[in-house]
Amino acid sequence: MFYLSNYRTLLKITNQVYNNRMSNQRIHSPSAKTFDLAATILKEGDIISFPTETVYGLGADATNSSAIAKIYSAKERPSFNPLIVHILSAEKASQYVIMNELTKKLADAFWPGPFTMVLPLKEGSGISDLITAGLDTVAIRVPKNEIAHQLLELFSGAVAAPSANKSGQISPTTAAHVDGEFGDELSFIIDGGACEKGIESTIVQVTNKDVILLRPGNITISDIEKVIGCSVLINNADGTKPTSPGQLTSHYAPNSKMRLNATKVYEDECYLTFGNIEGDLNLSPAGNLNEAAANLFSMMRALDQMNKTTIAVAPIPFTGLGLAINDRLQRAAAPKDSS
Ligand code: TXA
Ligand code: MG
Repeated sequence: MFYLSNYRTLLKITNQVYNNRMSNQRIHSPSAKTFDLAATILKEGDIISFPTETVYGLGADATNSSAIAKIYSAKERPSFNPLIVHILSAEKASQYVIMNELTKKLADAFWPGPFTMVLPLKEGSGISDLITAGLDTVAIRVPKNEIAHQLLELFSGAVAAPSANKSGQISPTTAAHVDGEFGDELSFIIDGGACEKGIESTIVQVTNKDVILLRPGNITISDIEKVIGCSVLINNADGTKPTSPGQLTSHYAPNSKMRLNATKVYEDECYLTFGNIEGDLNLSPAGNLNEAAANLFSMMRALDQMNKTTIAVAPIPFTGLGLAINDRLQRAAAPKDSS
């Protein structure tokens, strides 16, 4: 018995070491060699994961449909959900999409940065149909993160990259999260440490005269209104809330249930707090919304691993970046079968 249990422990440790070694082979520190390899993999039509300032992306050549199909299949993502395309600069973006005065103003203000614009596709852009999912627009973002920037420069093309998680799961903010999602399904991850912003980019649709918010994020409504000098639309003319096709009600979901605006905690719950409330983890003891956004997904993952029935979450103010944080929390709390 004694020997058997020792043997089992040893086997477990050996497996752990082996798994760690395997995962280390998938996770690469940024270096000239890493960027070269990553750009080559993209050119050869395969997928990689790379950091951006928001969350880690699962990237493929935006002009190569079979490479894009690999993203959908790795993410187990419904194919009606279009992908964001990452480009080196606004100037390069204008090769793929039509940019009007309003768009250029927004690009000057927020690119590079955590800001995505849904814009009309140019004819002959070469962007794969699988990215637009049949729409005549495409979502474009110029990321600020240095690693993403260097990769785009070396690849010198458009890289489609949704967040590097299985569809409906929490977006990854470290290389280890990405590796945990895909294991040996994904062989190349560039490690950029923890993402600075921690939640996905703000998405707007820009028409000739209107800017419509599709997903709240780090660039807030008031940041945008200061640049455009008029209101950002949150409702369509028919009063319905415009959402991206991918903005399913249940999204970013941990396995535990989520209970929001919790001012106390019950048995078999863990407690995610904000400001001067005690709990298992605190998004920002100082009550800073930027810090809270950056910690949100990794703390949700950590609490999910406590295997409690429910993660109770203290109230987060609905102002500025708090809007984006509450949006993600509400999706995480929505019943899993909602669409
Ligand atoms: O911060 C981010 O935006 C991250 C990093 C990796 O860049 N990416 C990201 O991508 O969050 P993803 O695929 O998880 O979310 C993209 C969202 C989806 O909800 C999708 O429906 C929407 O963008 N989208 C993409 N193209 C669109 C289009 N043409 N019209 C409307 N929504 C679109
Ligand atoms: Mg996502």
